Amino acid sequence: MIYSHILGTGSYLPAQRVTNNDLAERIDTSDEWISTRTGIKARHIAAENEKTSDLAVEAARRALAAAGTDAEEIGLIIVATTTPDMQFPSAATMVQHKLGINGCPAFDIQAVCAGFMYALTTADAYIRSGMANKALVIGADIFSRILDWNDRSTCVLFGDGAGAVVLSASEQPGILASRLHADGAHLDLLKVPAQMENGRISGSPFVKMDGQAVFKFAVKQLSAVADEVIQAASYTPEQVDWIVPHQANRRIIEATAKHLGLSMEKVIVTVDEHANTSAASIPLALDSGIRNGKIRRGQTLLLEGIGGGFAWGAVLIQY
Ligand code: ACO
Repeated sequence: MIYSHILGTGSYLPAQRVTNNDLAERIDTSDEWISTRTGIKARHIAAENEKTSDLAVEAARRALAAAGTDAEEIGLIIVATTTPDMQFPSAATMVQHKLGINGCPAFDIQAVCAGFMYALTTADAYIRSGMANKALVIGADIFSRILDWNDRSTCVLFGDGAGAVVLSASEQPGILASRLHADGAHLDLLKVPAQMENGRISGSPFVKMDGQAVFKFAVKQLSAVADEVIQAASYTPEQVDWIVPHQANRRIIEATAKHLGLSMEKVIVTVDEHANTSAASIPLALDSGIRNGKIRRGQTLLLEGIGGGFAWGAVLIQY
């Protein structure tokens, strides 16, 4: 049996760290409001000259180093992003070029905060079908550029960053099961409505969100998809060593852990320091858990995420 085995992970956060108190100096908010409702204390914000592909390539280089893999060995590059450098070409082709390689398929996946679940599942299908031997799967976003910094209901929630994973075909276990879903009926709950047409941008180029509706939908669907992927692998929640969730809001994370009957001791939490980095959030949390020694080889990891669309999914992995 061929698995997609995680050889190595890497991540990158822009240098500038912005705390809740920094934001409170600029808009009508407070550290108390943000941290009690979301668990967020700080976020990193990309420098003016940094693009999504720059963040992605840094994370990729660190993942390749951790994997002991040369860029030339990579046979597939997928970048999950909602904020590519430009309308086209894809961020993935830019990453490929910056890594000094060419020829292998490279493309972006757009599933907003669920992007990394979609990208990982797609790469797994390539590997298990023999279409790729080693894949670079990246989640990277610069949400700070699609936020209205005068809208306190959204701008306090997000940050910038990138995370990456090198997958290899292996007889050693890796991805055990994946489940993806989408329901386009909920378009209006979370979107950036802007459209680029005829040389003009029509509609707002900033994130619009119905926070309470997103909260309820996220808790319901993340719990359901977590159950589904665990059952698909014939596992039980007790066999999960770590939940590595999308880091949007600590209360959403707690609700999913509670639903599975798992304590917060078994959850990798980075939302306090990273805020919501969209497609980057799960691989950033994964890399953080691995590098700080919490996640160890052989352990079972449940990754899960949800984002605009809605699109959501979960992946069960033996690391
Ligand atoms: N600082 C201070 N006050 C604020 C702020 C702020 N940053 N933002 C809103 N408020 C005020 C509102 O104006 C409102 O004031 P009012 O009662 O005088 O009208 C009050 O706080 C309550 O606002 P609500 O929106 O009802 O606050 P709620 O308790 O629902 O929390 C939040 C808002 C944190 C956005 C919550 O709904 C949430 O976390 N939703 C999930 C959204 C999410 O995670 N989105 C990420 C993208 S999707 C994803 O990744 C899953």
